[in-house]
Amino acid sequence: MTPPPLIRLVRVCRAYGDPAPADAAGQPVRALDDLSLEIAEKDFVAVTGPSGCGKSTLLHLLGGLDQPTSGELFVGDLALHSADDRALTRYRRHDLGIVFQFFNLLPTMNVLENVCLPRLLAGESPARIRPRALELLELVGLAHRTNHFVHQLSGGELQRTAIARALVHRPRLLLADEPTGNLDSQGAARVVEVFSRVAAAGLTTLLIVTHSEEVARAASRRIRLRDGRLESGGA
Ligand SMILES: Nc1ncnc2c1ncn2[C@@H]1O[C@H](COP(=O)(O)OP(=O)(O)OP(=O)(O)O)[C@@H](O)[C@H]1O
Ligand SMILES: [Mg+2]
Repeated sequence: MTPPPLIRLVRVCRAYGDPAPADAAGQPVRALDDLSLEIAEKDFVAVTGPSGCGKSTLLHLLGGLDQPTSGELFVGDLALHSADDRALTRYRRHDLGIVFQFFNLLPTMNVLENVCLPRLLAGESPARIRPRALELLELVGLAHRTNHFVHQLSGGELQRTAIARALVHRPRLLLADEPTGNLDSQGAARVVEVFSRVAAAGLTTLLIVTHSEEVARAASRRIRLRDGRLESGGA
């Protein structure tokens, strides 16, 4: 028997209308338009498509940062389309890791402290978090940079630190929006390598929005959106 998918979208729409700008014909902008999709647990998925096709909108919905105008959206047993603030906060804290284009690391903390921070804020003891953080820094190839500060790291190293931080609480789902968008080709290649390693180790489910052919090639599945709809990769 095939296991149930981790992510399930059923006819999801996200429209921006009054008071947000409508299109030239006065119709609400449909950032996502009747999108149905399933993603398996532990899959490594790249979401591609032209600018404005709804990639970030999809990520915001899956991140519990926004809710659909209509349709249903599940991550595991959680119905994100109808979840209340408490459930969404718990979901973001426990089940989700997010990687941003601009890293969002704290400059006053070193690499190890940045990776440990989410668990410290959740009340876990430093003695418990440290070994896990060091293990992840080894995985992302930064075991030799644990005491470096943000201003002492390259862009690629910053992003690999952010990936370790996003994994420290063992999330079920890792979301990333253009994680190589701000990196040179060498830095980007190392980040792609890290995502592949994370996927191969079965640490989590990866869903990565990207314009990079390299990232898309590394993924085991590619989903292409166009005008808020699935162009390919739905099956
Ligand atoms: N707050 C908003 N109000 C009105 N329209 C919006 C809003 N946010 C996004 N949109 C529109 O929804 C569509 C999808 O936007 P989205 O940010 O998801 O695109 P994207 O695929 O991530 O593009 P890019 O590759 O440029 O990041 C676009 O047409 C955009 O203009
Ligand atoms: Mg975007």
